[in-house]
Amino acid sequence: MSQSGAKYVVELPTAELKLGSCATSDRWLPHGLGRRTLGGVAARRKVPWRPRGSRPFGGHTRPVLCSAGESLDLANDKARQGAASGVVAGESVGQEQSQRDFYQINNLYDTISGQDNIHHGFYPHLARDGRELVVLDNVQASMALTQRMIALGGIDRTSKVLDLGCGKGLSCSTIAKLTGASCVGVDLTPKHIERANALAATTAGIERGQLTFVEGSFTELPSEALALGPFSHVFSQVAFCHVHAELPAILAQVKQALAPGGVAVINDMLGASGPPASEDDVADAAAVYRRLHFEVLHGHQAWRRIVEEAGFTLEHYENWDAHMLKSYEDRRDKAEALGAEMADGTPLATNFEQTVRAVRARQIGMNFAILTVD
Ligand SMILES: C[S@@+](CC[C@H](N)C(=O)[O-])C[C@H]1O[C@@H](n2cnc3c(N)ncnc32)[C@H](O)[C@@H]1O
Repeated sequence: MSQSGAKYVVELPTAELKLGSCATSDRWLPHGLGRRTLGGVAARRKVPWRPRGSRPFGGHTRPVLCSAGESLDLANDKARQGAASGVVAGESVGQEQSQRDFYQINNLYDTISGQDNIHHGFYPHLARDGRELVVLDNVQASMALTQRMIALGGIDRTSKVLDLGCGKGLSCSTIAKLTGASCVGVDLTPKHIERANALAATTAGIERGQLTFVEGSFTELPSEALALGPFSHVFSQVAFCHVHAELPAILAQVKQALAPGGVAVINDMLGASGPPASEDDVADAAAVYRRLHFEVLHGHQAWRRIVEEAGFTLEHYENWDAHMLKSYEDRRDKAEALGAEMADGTPLATNFEQTVRAVRARQIGMNFAILTVD
C-alpha cells in the first residue's frame, strides 16, 4: 500500500507496531547500572541476574529496565570507554572479551546462517497479505531480507553504497551483482574484511574496483572509507546494535558519509518494547545480551526517537520482530542438530531458545528503516 506524501512505498507486513505505539520503557541498562537508576520491574523485584543454567559470573548485578532518557549519561559514560575503537566488551564468554572477539573467533555462522551470511531473515509468508507463500528456510530468508532492503531503499546501478558493519561482504557482493552499484564495506573484525576481499575477488559478475572493504569502526569512520564517498546510500544490517549506547555518534557518521539527498537503509537488532512480565523474561534477555556482548539495546520507540533527534526523517519503518522470531527458531533447530556450543561451552541451541522466548516477550526485536537527512 502506498502512503500519500511519503517518498517510499510503505508496507507493514508485520503491522503489529505502528509509529508511536510502543510503551515508553524500552531501554535496558544491564551491568550493575541498576543501583543508580530509577529501575523498572526488574529492579523493583530485586531479580538476581544470572541466565538460567549458567555459571555465576563476577562484577555484575542485574539488568534493569529504565524509562527512555533515564540514566542515559551512565550508559554513555560506559560506552565512551570503548568509543575510540567501537569495541564493546559486554560480558566475557570463554575467551571472548568483546563483540570483536566474538566475530573473530566464531565459526558457526557459515553452517547455521548460510555461507558468509551473518544476518537474520525476512520471511514473505509472514506478510499476512492473503497470499499463500512457501515458507523459506533461514538461508533463503536472509537473501530475501537483503533483496527487500535493496528494493525499498531504491538502490540501482547509479548508486554508491556504504555498508556499515558489512561482515564478510556478502550483502555488498549481492548489491553489486543484482544492481550494478558500487559498494564500500566497513567492519571492525579483521577476519571479516579478509573474507570480504576474497569473496569479492571470486564472485562472478563483479568488476574490479566495484567493491572496497576497509577495517574500522562505524563510530569513527576510517578516512579511507569516507574518501570514497559521498554515498547515495548508507546500508547496514544488524550491526549498530553492537554499539547502541553510541547510536547518536553513529548517526552523525552516517550523515557525514551521505551525499545531499542520500538515503540510509537500516536493519537493526533492538531491545525491549515494554517491561518484562516475569523474572524468566529478564533471564532470557540477559542471556541474549551476554552471548552477543551487548551493553545497551534500544527498543523500537527509543530507536526512532534517537534517529529523529539526530536530524533524520523517518521515511519508512517496519517492525520485523516476527521475522527475528522465525530466524531464531530456525537457527535453534540447526544449532541443536549440530550440537553447537558457545565459547564457554553453553549449548548454542539453549541460548537461541532463550532468544526465541525473549522475542516473544518483546524484550528483543528487529526493525527496518529508511532515513533521509532533514
Ligand atoms: C551480525 S553481524 C552482521 C554482518 C553483516 N552486516 C551481515 O549482514 O552479514 C555484525 C557485524 O558488525 C560488525 N561490527 C560490530 N561493531 C562494529 C563497529 N563498531 N564498527 C564496525 N563494525 C562493527 C561485526 O564485526 C559484524 O561483522
